[in-house]
Amino acid sequence: MSDPREPALALARANGWSIDHVAIVVADLEATLALYTQTMGFAQLYREIVAEQGIEAVGIAAGDSVIELLRPLDESSAIARFRGDAATKMHHIAYQVTDIVAELARLRAAGVRLIDETPRAGANGNTIAFLHPKSTGGVLTELCQPPATRPRASYPRKRE
Ligand code: CO
Repeated sequence: MSDPREPALALARANGWSIDHVAIVVADLEATLALYTQTMGFAQLYREIVAEQGIEAVGIAAGDSVIELLRPLDESSAIARFRGDAATKMHHIAYQVTDIVAELARLRAAGVRLIDETPRAGANGNTIAFLHPKSTGGVLTELCQPPATRPRASYPRKRE
């Protein structure tokens, strides 16, 4: 017989991750940004070049999570080839963690292949690391630890 406490117990055992952002690679950043902000009405949170990753990133608030639009700086790069001729294409999902080093160690021990063996700097002040899609059912997956100076609740919840 199932334990009626099981959902609560499962939550207590769970990893605690929440969705930090969903990243979409785009061909035309201005047009896509206008769609998300002016037409759909999301608020823009940040915009920056992440040279090391070869992208410009724009973060858009979606409740407690972020939609991150990525523009490849080089149209011959792997991320641009991944997008191909599409106007936009889902690129990765990022989960927010509180201790990225510990999570990477735990996953490595569980046999998960890591793209980033050690965390590195991402957009919006985050520390990030990618897991290999061969170990995550084909979905490019990022772990993301926000800076201690930016509590999650600081995202705007409605338009000013
Ligand atoms: Co990301």
